[in-house]
Amino acid sequence: MFRELAVVAILVGSISADTPANCTYQDLLGQWNFQIGESGYDRTLNCSNFGSLSNPAKSKLMVTLYFPDLAIDEFGNRGWWTLIYNQGFEVVLSGRKYFAFSMYKKDGSTYESMCDQTMPGWSHDIFGHNWACYSGSKVERLPLRYQKHVLSTSPVYAGVKYQSDAALVSEINRAQRSWRAVKYPQFERLDIEDMIKMAGGRKSRIPSIPKPAPATPEHTRLADNLPTEFDWRNVDGMNYVSPIRNQGSCGSCYAFASMGMNEARWRIMTNNTVTPVFSPQDVVECSEYSQGCEGGFPYLIGGKYAEDFGLVLEECNPYKGRDGTCSTLSNCPRLYSTKYEYIGGFYGACNEDLMRINLVKNGPMAVAFEVYNDFFNYKGGVYHHTGLQDRFNPFEITNHAVLLVGYGTDRTNPDAPENYWIVKNSWGEGWGEDGYFRIRRGTDECSIESIAVQAFPIM
Ligand SMILES: *[C@@H]1O[C@H](CO)[C@@H](O)[C@H](O)[C@H]1NC(C)=O
Ligand SMILES: *[C@@H]1O[C@H](CO)[C@@H](O)[C@H](O)[C@H]1NC(C)=O
Ligand SMILES: *[C@@H]1O[C@H](CO)[C@@H](O)[C@H](O)[C@H]1NC(C)=O
Repeated sequence: MFRELAVVAILVGSISADTPANCTYQDLLGQWNFQIGESGYDRTLNCSNFGSLSNPAKSKLMVTLYFPDLAIDEFGNRGWWTLIYNQGFEVVLSGRKYFAFSMYKKDGSTYESMCDQTMPGWSHDIFGHNWACYSGSKVERLPLRYQKHVLSTSPVYAGVKYQSDAALVSEINRAQRSWRAVKYPQFERLDIEDMIKMAGGRKSRIPSIPKPAPATPEHTRLADNLPTEFDWRNVDGMNYVSPIRNQGSCGSCYAFASMGMNEARWRIMTNNTVTPVFSPQDVVECSEYSQGCEGGFPYLIGGKYAEDFGLVLEECNPYKGRDGTCSTLSNCPRLYSTKYEYIGGFYGACNEDLMRINLVKNGPMAVAFEVYNDFFNYKGGVYHHTGLQDRFNPFEITNHAVLLVGYGTDRTNPDAPENYWIVKNSWGEGWGEDGYFRIRRGTDECSIESIAVQAFPIM
């Protein structure tokens, strides 16, 4: 009977976490009119009513977005921009940054994304001064095409418990030797909805998750000179990775991956003399750059939030794993990061060589990949998606953010050595290889080589 449920789920399952916006490169390319509000504010500026009579635009700027990352304003100044998954975009031009989520609106029981407009967003100079609200509208309007999708108000699988599929576990273990599956009793207490949140929450699936960019000869040469194995948990006997945590059933993986990247990079930059553990709850409750337990993106949290607002230590807002009003202690110092970027410079420029180069040179980075049901059962080895079907639990692909900490080659089977990434998950130490997993490297397994993000702590 769950098989039927699963089929229904695929049909009505196009609900999304994060925002309901679903915008692609094609949607955003072209000329934009940025309406900009009064500037001179600090980061406490509230832009939610921008565009209303009480908070009107004061000036405008025409900006044209070209593929893949060039932005030019009406005066001919050249800057750059990046798409942020399918959720919005950021432009950096003439010393100012502009970020907004793409527009969506509710229409009865469905949502329409309107990719030719943005929600009210934030602009400030590259040093974080002179904040102003802004919003963008594309000069050429997009027809409202296939952009409607259903967003149900109640969870689809309310009350349905996750149930380990013992047959799936033995099928996985029979079908291949790369990785081993087990049943996790701790998952059986959870609702399917909680499991989906744990794995990143539902995302509007975009067929256009970029494929890895082609490697340049220069990058390949640099990558070929790197060690063949590398692990930030053991660099000449030193561990630079903070302890494994458990996000619980809140869609906050993006916050854990983001905190984990900054925690590790602080450790690396200070030779482990400063070992912060940052507060994901601060992000969940206080950041307007993400959707709390409903999801978010490392570019906007490990990067932009860490630059614009800074991160606080865990004790300033201990983890609760649920949404709430911002309760971060106001006297807590904030630690900042800068130079956040998609590996390769913009969304779509990532690949294995660039990930290895930046990993070894700069430290762990946030990555995201598509979670299929078989992944929940992972216990050890080098994961790849088997395609084997779960009999009990509705099939739903999610996009899960995690932390890349190393790479290597598995030679257990000498005839078929397998390259892997080493990745830190946020499902507690009892899951996988003491909280970590390894996954195939070099083949963009589950899109893991598509959307890596890094940022640099400011000491
Ligand atoms: C911004 O203002 C709106 C009302 O205009 C309010 O609902 C919202 O909570 C405010 N946001 C913040 C972060 O203070
Ligand atoms: C998002 O947009 C893409 C391309 O425009 C479309 O193929 C896909 O079905 C959309 N996803 C959802 C959940 O609406
Ligand atoms: C880093 O810390 C280790 C262990 O405490 C120490 O042996 C090493 O000399 C330090 N390196 C530097 C550059 O200070």
